[in-house]
Amino acid sequence: MTIPEHHYFFKIPNIELPEETRNHLIKRAKQKKDIPIEQFRKVTLKGYDGVASQLMFGTVKAGQSTAHNVSSSVANEGLRYNWVGMYGLHGLKDVIPDYDPVVDSIYNMFTEEAKKHLFYFIVSSTEPYGYMSPHMDQRTFGKHRESVIFFPLEPYNEKDWAPLTYYTPEGKTIPINFYHCYAGNTEAVHGYENNEHPRYHLQISFLQPMEVLYKLHTENRLFK
Ligand SMILES: [Fe+2]
Repeated sequence: MTIPEHHYFFKIPNIELPEETRNHLIKRAKQKKDIPIEQFRKVTLKGYDGVASQLMFGTVKAGQSTAHNVSSSVANEGLRYNWVGMYGLHGLKDVIPDYDPVVDSIYNMFTEEAKKHLFYFIVSSTEPYGYMSPHMDQRTFGKHRESVIFFPLEPYNEKDWAPLTYYTPEGKTIPINFYHCYAGNTEAVHGYENNEHPRYHLQISFLQPMEVLYKLHTENRLFK
């Protein structure tokens, strides 16, 4: 049976972050602010502690975080993650330090139904010629981001954007070019190699598998 393309990714037409939101997120990512691990230890989430701590940036210096695996892994080069906010199961925005209110405006682009499945928001950055080797997120991050909605931030055009690539079991590659908004399956093998431009994008993790996200999308129940 052929795996449908939407198992890997699908574009979401007519949805785009406002320019001021993009600029805010890029600026914040460039600040490279370190957050002391002590602050994160205050966050206790029954059953989700691992996730909560792993989300706290590649800049967290210590603790039980697995985020350091992202930026220090030999499989990755030039990557870092910037925490911008969290929603989902536990109303976490109230307990996470350094919560960014701009996340509210992005969160409110989603339908009430979709909001139930959103978990966290991070800005991922990659240095020029950085890369992320082919992987499935589950092995590194646990089962809390089965699918992800991506908003590219910079570069903001198809010519300069380095595509994400999916690797199929049949040995094919599926490059995902620049779209203002698209969804991707973190349980399918993916990776990318950056070009000469610093690369920034917002990721919104989704607790449900890709098929659920796709169904919401096709039924117009994902974004307002
Ligand atoms: Fe990934």
